[in-house]
Amino acid sequence: MKTIIEPFRIKAVEPIRMTTRQERKALIRAAEYNLFALAARDVMIDLLTDSGTGAMSSAQWAAVMRGDESYAGSPSFSRFEAAVKALMPFRHVIPTHQGRAAEAILFSIFGGPGQVIPNNTHFDTTRGNIEASGARAVDLVIEEGKDPASEHPFKGNMDIGKLRAFLEEHGEAVPCVMLTITNNAGGGQPASLENIRATAELAREFGKPFFIDGCRFAENAWFIKTREPGQEARAIPEIVRDCFAVADGMTMSAKKDAFGNIGGWLALNDDALAEVARGHLIRTEGFPTYGGMAGRDLEALAQGLAEIVDEDYLRYRIRTNAYIVERLEALGIPVVRPAGGHAVFVDARRWLSHIDPLHYPGQALAVALYEIGGIRACEIGSVMFGRQPDGSEKPAAMELVRLAMPRRTYTQSHADYIVECFEELADLAPRLRGYRITREPPLMRHFTCAFAPLED
Ligand code: F0G
Repeated sequence: MKTIIEPFRIKAVEPIRMTTRQERKALIRAAEYNLFALAARDVMIDLLTDSGTGAMSSAQWAAVMRGDESYAGSPSFSRFEAAVKALMPFRHVIPTHQGRAAEAILFSIFGGPGQVIPNNTHFDTTRGNIEASGARAVDLVIEEGKDPASEHPFKGNMDIGKLRAFLEEHGEAVPCVMLTITNNAGGGQPASLENIRATAELAREFGKPFFIDGCRFAENAWFIKTREPGQEARAIPEIVRDCFAVADGMTMSAKKDAFGNIGGWLALNDDALAEVARGHLIRTEGFPTYGGMAGRDLEALAQGLAEIVDEDYLRYRIRTNAYIVERLEALGIPVVRPAGGHAVFVDARRWLSHIDPLHYPGQALAVALYEIGGIRACEIGSVMFGRQPDGSEKPAAMELVRLAMPRRTYTQSHADYIVECFEELADLAPRLRGYRITREPPLMRHFTCAFAPLED
């Protein structure tokens, strides 16, 4: 069969409220052109994020009923911990309410003024936590990873040559090395098992602990299985274990590849570090057998981790994005190639080359897409990354618009509708104008800043 069907059927539905184009123009104006400020009921297809927005399975909802809410020693924690360790063999699993809480704990230990922390590309909350500690976050992804048109199969790879030079130059100022799989800020592109191992080896050579940001570990493993020579016959859980076996720890947002609506964890091998981390956890999140979660969340995640490594699911998941990318390319729309794991990324810099990067072509595109079809996407470009720690502005490496696909939530007809909206957008694109920022906070401004359209 040619069609890869959704490998599930629908048991509960949630209505979508239909809006008109005229209504949406007024709504986005009232939101000061920031899509984060829209009410979700005013959005028809919400592709703002794949984080916490997936559909849980009937087995997960059943597990929720089993949740044991004991403050200490809950059996739900034991099941959660066993499910994590079955895939990621770390000695200590420290539950947090989401990924950024794990990052905050990690960088309270490893951050601080004068420190520099390399990654393929730091996600915005990772960067935010590092910078808030006074440290600097540095991106060392391979050059192909910054070229939306490059067909490199592992565009999320760390540039091993640059990492070596970086470690030689900064020496003592580097507290740890990180790698994000898949590389969300760089287009949802994977890192190969070979590159994960090479990064780990280099970190070890310089005596630095190596941490993986594993939010989308299962999608990354699927790419390893289907693209890396010698990996095609291996089971996904085996590949996952190999990825994490070379790390000293990980941060995780369970809102992605654990099918959770909330949750996360920090995992570590080092006993002394784990003790410090648990001290921080008790102060900020909760007791170590629930952290930032309820027992029912821990149960949902334990079941979700068993489901996420299913090959039928991953084949369908990755195919959905590849399908949209193929259709957009057929319309002549520049997209990040190859399709990412969790999202489709449109290259707004190339498509709207008449808009200066510091007039935010990605934002212009995202606003237009909402007005046309009620689709909410997210700018990943100079709005998100352009503001420098000293308050100045610099264009980001890429101007992307991300259409993040919630897991198991939208169907094929939604995908076709998205493509139709782009078809209409293609006619408007040459006439779209840029935006300026009228109000912004000092950190992670994209969530709350306000925009105004540039005049003629
Ligand atoms: N690391 C990566 C690579 C992420 O994509 C995210 C979240 C986090 C860490 C933080 O996790 O949200 O649970 O605190 N990414 C979401 C997104 C928000 O839309 O890409 P969190």
